[in-house]
Amino acid sequence: MPRHLIDITDLSVAEIDSLIATAEDIFDHPDKYQSVCACRQLATLFFEPSTRTRLSFESAMLALGGQVLGFSSADCSSTAKGETVTDTVHTVSCYADIIAMRHPKEGAPFAAAQVSEVPIINAGDGGHNHPTQTLTDLLTIHRERGKLHGFTIGFCGDLKFGRTVHSLVNALSRYPDIRYVFISPTELKLPRYVKEHSLKNRNIPYEQTEELSEVMPELDILYMTRVQKERFFNEEEYLRLKDSYILTPAKLCGAKPDLSILHPLPRVNEISATVDRDPRAVYWKQVRYGKYIRMALIMFLLGLTP
Ligand code: CP
Repeated sequence: MPRHLIDITDLSVAEIDSLIATAEDIFDHPDKYQSVCACRQLATLFFEPSTRTRLSFESAMLALGGQVLGFSSADCSSTAKGETVTDTVHTVSCYADIIAMRHPKEGAPFAAAQVSEVPIINAGDGGHNHPTQTLTDLLTIHRERGKLHGFTIGFCGDLKFGRTVHSLVNALSRYPDIRYVFISPTELKLPRYVKEHSLKNRNIPYEQTEELSEVMPELDILYMTRVQKERFFNEEEYLRLKDSYILTPAKLCGAKPDLSILHPLPRVNEISATVDRDPRAVYWKQVRYGKYIRMALIMFLLGLTP
């Protein structure tokens, strides 16, 4: 049976730590890895738009000496003729050695894994999970702070639909001594199932507030998120909530000098472009790290070493 990555808890803490160590080694010694995936193919099946995740997967496979195939929209696959996701994946698993898949329906990658003969990687399923963004976030935190424990992290924005938040909270809840502050409008609070599964069941306390300015001085990490327009059923509600938080240099006045500001991107206007010049803004480094952690993941799931 192939090994899949559908949920971040499919990986043990030791496996995550090992992937981070491999990614850091790739970062320092890329030449060592340039042929690891020679004669291997990665398929990227994206039923929903993406820039970073799809292209970083493709860039990762090419940097490992492998090849890539796939589609970037459901419209240009036989999905448009009515083919099911499982039949599509069953088909592609005859052509590729590993599949990265994004789908707007929660659980679609899990269903795909039931029929695939090759590893399936969940590259984002609806408002549910995004485990490879989480690996990217963990690598970023590790490189910026030197550890994955002993800090205060604030999650700000759309915590209801933000799948990267759900996966990251789940992952961090397995590391010790982390203080969680959730900052959102009432309508966009972290779903109850995430709080219960990741935090309450492990007796991990957390705080919730609507005011970013009140908690800013306490944060070591600020994880900003976009209000996820595509998940709203009601456009009026989206328009009312979309500008709830807009991070500007002025709003960072009371923040710690060594704060790390992360964002999975894409952003709309929740972080002013003027913040990009602040050394505490690490989201462009985060984009770059996404390639290295995906290189480590592809090798791990294929059982390959340099
Ligand atoms: N962070 C992320 O998933 O970005 P894309 O939607 O561009 O892949």
